[in-house]
Amino acid sequence: MGCELGKLATVKSQNQTATDLRLPLTAKQKFTVMASWKAVSRALEPTGVYMLIRLFEENAELLNMFTQFRELKTKEQQSNSMELAKHAEKVMSALDEGIKGLDDMDVFLTCLHQVGATHTKIPGFNPQYFWKIEKPFLEAVERTLEDRYSENVENIYKVTIKFIIETLIDGFDKAQNDKAQSDTAKS
Ligand code: HEM
Repeated sequence: MGCELGKLATVKSQNQTATDLRLPLTAKQKFTVMASWKAVSRALEPTGVYMLIRLFEENAELLNMFTQFRELKTKEQQSNSMELAKHAEKVMSALDEGIKGLDDMDVFLTCLHQVGATHTKIPGFNPQYFWKIEKPFLEAVERTLEDRYSENVENIYKVTIKFIIETLIDGFDKAQNDKAQSDTAKS
């Protein structure tokens, strides 16, 4: 999922300060997460497939929302599915853009607000469901980073995914409020 905000990032990079007050990470922590993410970025699909399989293992009821692969009930079926792999890639690309955008809070927030907003179109989607990905995400990153996943790195990823989820929920809520307002204006 492309936010195509790269240009904005390039134009602004010259007058960015080291840390942005909106970012709940120190400059050093931001550096650590962005550096370690490079290994995840090279393995987006397998990391994403593992993350989704863990999501559905812990929350089988969520599988029903996915029209493309709701019939895949076992872990084996899920890990061999092209549809699931394609979706994993989309979700991970959105996270990839978000994490690569940590250097510029405007890019990060715009990108993840947009992704959160797309979920308003999913029938029955509750924004609190975003929290369900927290643990599977951390497990998937740990699996990909192996011994690079130190206690320090783990703590930084915990803060990062919490911030990402809060931003997705904000984007969802904003889009839903905007829609409610425009519906009221029409009636
Ligand atoms: C890190 C958190 C998440 C990210 C970054 C994310 C990202 C995405 C993206 C990029 C899409 C594709 C949108 C498009 O094609 O326009 C999508 C679709 C979708 N997401 Fe998420 N998502 C997240 C969490 C969740 C969770 C926890 C659920 C749980 C129910 C969920 C349910 C869905 C569904 C049902 C779709 C539509 C799939 C389809 O039928 O094409 N998402 N998500």
